[in-house]
Amino acid sequence: CGIVGYVGSEQAAPILLEGLTRLEYRGYDSAGIAVLTGSGPKVAHAVGRVRDLQAALPKRLSGKVGIGHTRWATHGPATEANAHPHRSADGRIMLVHNGIIDNATVLRTELEADGVQFTSDTDTEVLAHLIGRSEAPALEDRVIQALQRITGTYAVAVLDAQLPDRIVVARQGSPLIIGIGDREMFVGSDASALVRHTSQVVHLDDGELAIVAAGGYETFTADRARTSKQPEELTLRADELQLEGHDTFLHKEIHEQPTSLERMLSGRLDDRFATARLDGLGIDARELRGFRRVKAIGCGSSFYIGQLGASMIEDLARIPADAEAASEFRYRNPIVEPDTLYVAVSQSGETADTLFAVREIQRKGGCVVGLVNVVGSSIARECDGGIYLHAGPEVSVASTKVLTHMGVGFALLALLLGRVHDLSYADGARIVAGLRALPGQVQQMLDSEDEIAVVAKGLAQSPSSFFIGRVRGYAVAREGAQKLKEISYQHAEAYQASELKHGPLALISPQMPTVAIVPDDELVERNLGALHEIAARSGPVIAVTHPGVEFGDLAAERIVVPHGEVELDPIVLTIPLQLLAYHAAAALGRDIDRPRNLAKSVTVE
Ligand code: G6P
Repeated sequence: CGIVGYVGSEQAAPILLEGLTRLEYRGYDSAGIAVLTGSGPKVAHAVGRVRDLQAALPKRLSGKVGIGHTRWATHGPATEANAHPHRSADGRIMLVHNGIIDNATVLRTELEADGVQFTSDTDTEVLAHLIGRSEAPALEDRVIQALQRITGTYAVAVLDAQLPDRIVVARQGSPLIIGIGDREMFVGSDASALVRHTSQVVHLDDGELAIVAAGGYETFTADRARTSKQPEELTLRADELQLEGHDTFLHKEIHEQPTSLERMLSGRLDDRFATARLDGLGIDARELRGFRRVKAIGCGSSFYIGQLGASMIEDLARIPADAEAASEFRYRNPIVEPDTLYVAVSQSGETADTLFAVREIQRKGGCVVGLVNVVGSSIARECDGGIYLHAGPEVSVASTKVLTHMGVGFALLALLLGRVHDLSYADGARIVAGLRALPGQVQQMLDSEDEIAVVAKGLAQSPSSFFIGRVRGYAVAREGAQKLKEISYQHAEAYQASELKHGPLALISPQMPTVAIVPDDELVERNLGALHEIAARSGPVIAVTHPGVEFGDLAAERIVVPHGEVELDPIVLTIPLQLLAYHAAAALGRDIDRPRNLAKSVTVE
C-alpha cells in the first residue's frame, strides 16, 4: 500500500492525488484521501485506481492539510468501506495505515463490546477508534497510547480535525519518509511520492514518531524522547518516473538495461587483480575467506535470482551456495551459522518477509549483506553491508531490469569470493571481460525484440505452458514462468528439464508448449534429450538457446541469445523471457504495469 501526506500553504488535494498516482504501483485496488477544510474534514474513497478517486472527490475540497492512501487489500476485500482513510467513531481522527495489526480481531471484539460500531472489515479501523477514544490531551500522546495496544507492523499518518496544522506519523516495520519543503512538508511511504516536491528527506526508524507541520518536524520515540535526524538527499529524480515514449514502464525498464548495467558496473571491476570492487560489503578479504557457505534469501523473482546467483557462486567460488524463499526461512527456525554469508535480495528493500528474515539472521548472530536497489530502504539500512544495484527506479510491478542487476550483483560477489578462494587470475580476468561484455549482449537481445514478439503472440494463445531448464538454466526457467504468469495471467510452470520425465510429461500434448532453456554448455546433450521426450509426445517447443546448437525438428521456434562466459550466460538468457512475457501480455491486452492482485512491494507478511 502507499501513503502520502501534505501540510503547507498549497491546496492539499491535488498534491495528494499526484503522490498517490506515483504510489499506485504499491497497491491499486482502492484509494482515498482526507483533507481538513474550512468547513471540517472531508474524506473520499473509491474502489479502483486513483483516477476513480479523482472522479469521486467532493466539489469543494479546499484545505492545506491532508493524507491519502492507495490500498493493496489484506484484511477485507477492495470496497469503498475498506478503503483508507479510516475514522474514529466521532469522525475527529482520520488515519491511513500500511502494515498489519496482528491483534486486530481481539481489539475489535473488545471495542464492539464497548459499543463501538465498525464501518469496515479492516484491521486499520481498530487503530482509528483506539486513537479516538484515548483521553490524552495531545494528538501524539493519543497515537502513542493507541499504538501501545497493538502488535504488528505499521506506518501511519494521522489527522485530527481539531488540529488542522499537523500530521502525526509513526513507523514500525513499514517505511515512512518525511519530505522537507519550504514552509511545507510531505509524508510518503516511499520517495517516489515526494520526488516532485523535494529532494530533502528524513527516514523514520522503527519505533519513531513525528509531528509534521508546515514549518518543521519533530521526531521522538514512544517515551517522548526526542531523536535527532539528519535530512538526506534523495537520489531519485522526477524525470526518471516518465514513460519517455514507451507504452509501459515495463517496456521502458527492459530497454534501459544496457545503460543501467554500464552504470552498475562502473568502478566495480578491478583489472589489476581480476576481481570485483565491492566496498559497500564492508567485509575484508580475510573475513570473506572465512565464509564456508552462502545463502541467498528473497521473495518472488528475487528468490529465483538468488537461486541463479547461488549457482554462479558455486561455479566461481566453489563454496556451497543455495537460495531460499525468505518467507519460508524465518518460520522454520533456521540454523544460522557464523561461517555462512547470508545475502538478502530485494528490489524495494522493504519486503516484510525478507526484512524479518534479515532480523532473524542477525538475532542469531549471522552476517547478512543486502543486494538491494532502493537506497536507504529498510533492508539496505539494517543489513551489515551490501551491494547497491543502481538500476534506477523501477515502476512496473513486475521486475525486469532490477533482476538483471541482481544477477550482475551476484556475479560480482561470486567473482570476489572466487578470487579470495581458488579462482585463478586468468579465470578472474575472463569473468571481468565477460561482465564488461554483458551490456552489449543485452542490447543485442533487445535488437531481436520483433522476432520475439512474434513467438510471444503464439505463446499467448496457450492457457498453460512449461518452462524447463537444467542446473543454471532452471533458475532462468523459474523466473521466465513467473514473469509470464504475473503479467499475462497465463499459467506457466517451471520444471527442471531432468524432472520432466518423472511426472509432468503426462501433461505434454500439442496444446502444451514448452519454453526450453538450452545453453551451449556441458549439459546441452542432456537438454536435447529432454526435448526428444517432449517431441515424442508432439509437444511444441520454443528453445531459448545459443548459436550453433542443433535442434533438428525438436524445436519449432528458436530464440538465439549471444553466448558469453558460461557462468554468466544465465543472466543474458533471462532477457528474451522478459520480452516474451511482455509481448504475450500485450497481445492479450493486459494491464502490464499493474497486473491484477499484485503489488510492487509487499510490506506485510
Ligand atoms: C512482490 C512482487 C514481486 C517481487 C517480490 C519481491 O511479491 O509482486 O514481483 O519479486 O515482491 O520484491 P522485492 O522488492 O523484495 O524484490
